[in-house]
Amino acid sequence: MRLGVLTGGGDCPGLNAAIRAIAHRAWMFGDQLYGFREGWAGLLGDGNASLLGQEEIAGILHLGGTILGSSRTNPARSESEMRQVEENLRRRDIDGLVTIGGDDTLSVSARLSARGFAVVGVPKTIDNDVPHTDYCIGFDTATDIVGEALDRLHTTAESHRRVMVVEVMGRDAGWLAMVGGVGGGADLIIIPEERSTLDGVVHHVQHRMESRQFSIVVVAEGAQVEGIESTTSSSVDQFGHALLATRGIGTRLAEAIESRLGVEARVTVLGHVQRGGSPSMFDRVLATRMGATAVDYLHEGRVGVMTAIQGLEIVPVAFADVTGHNRTVDRRFFRLVEQFNTVEESAASHSHHT
Ligand code: F6P
Repeated sequence: MRLGVLTGGGDCPGLNAAIRAIAHRAWMFGDQLYGFREGWAGLLGDGNASLLGQEEIAGILHLGGTILGSSRTNPARSESEMRQVEENLRRRDIDGLVTIGGDDTLSVSARLSARGFAVVGVPKTIDNDVPHTDYCIGFDTATDIVGEALDRLHTTAESHRRVMVVEVMGRDAGWLAMVGGVGGGADLIIIPEERSTLDGVVHHVQHRMESRQFSIVVVAEGAQVEGIESTTSSSVDQFGHALLATRGIGTRLAEAIESRLGVEARVTVLGHVQRGGSPSMFDRVLATRMGATAVDYLHEGRVGVMTAIQGLEIVPVAFADVTGHNRTVDRRFFRLVEQFNTVEESAASHSHHT
């Protein structure tokens, strides 16, 4: 077969591991593999693609980013662009395409698939919000980055008896805030899925400061906190998403906590640090398994699907089931956070008496 691969949307660690696995599995079948550059942009106009060989693929397993480049180009905005995509695939006699991306890339893949082209998707996003897969490539590495940041912020928070507000990525879902926050021992985690108020946050932090004199608050960039005005960016990308980093929810929250409680608060915005660098072992293995399986699916004619991990298995899930909605955080995680805000009865009364 003649296969194609592209990476679309925001990059993350593990994309190169997936590309490498796709290439090697394709070569195992005796296929040729074309790499399309910069996401769907590589399939517009005259196209931007080249045959991938050992030289391009060697030594990329541990590298962050994507050797193919990425963009938020959305050809599904117009019929003429969708035709250009098809034309570029036809011109190169591509029999099947593997698209590595999040909800946006998968939604374009679904459109292309509905027009009769063989596409298999591979989910990646540090937001981890693609439905029907327990993990997306990049998420595990990003949680490690959040966890390490929280470890470091703990020591400085404690020295200065401060409130540290940490803003992490997460547009519609708070997986990164929640899992990174639980692993890094955050006192309070604020996510887009859950209604929160400034009064509630202030009350919580005050309670915590009474017992430990410092506090770590993790907030997802897409979270809404009633009582806090965050600015909305006027510019949106081709999929209609505003750049949330400019909303400044973390900064506004730190300012509000400081003025309401009279304690010192500082903000750290982790930003694109969460998307950079070398992938974790988990992400490398996940990307390798998903990439190889995507090629198997193309050979088996199982198209119009995404590779998903459910438990320990990689399984196909139809595009129709994964596009148009997000996987939100399991509410049971909140109890995991809450339990650490209660101290042992006897310890509390003991310290009270002495
Ligand atoms: O979709 C993944 C994501 O990391 C979001 O959490 C974030 O809002 C967005 O990408 C930022 O992307 P960029 O700065 O690349 O447009």
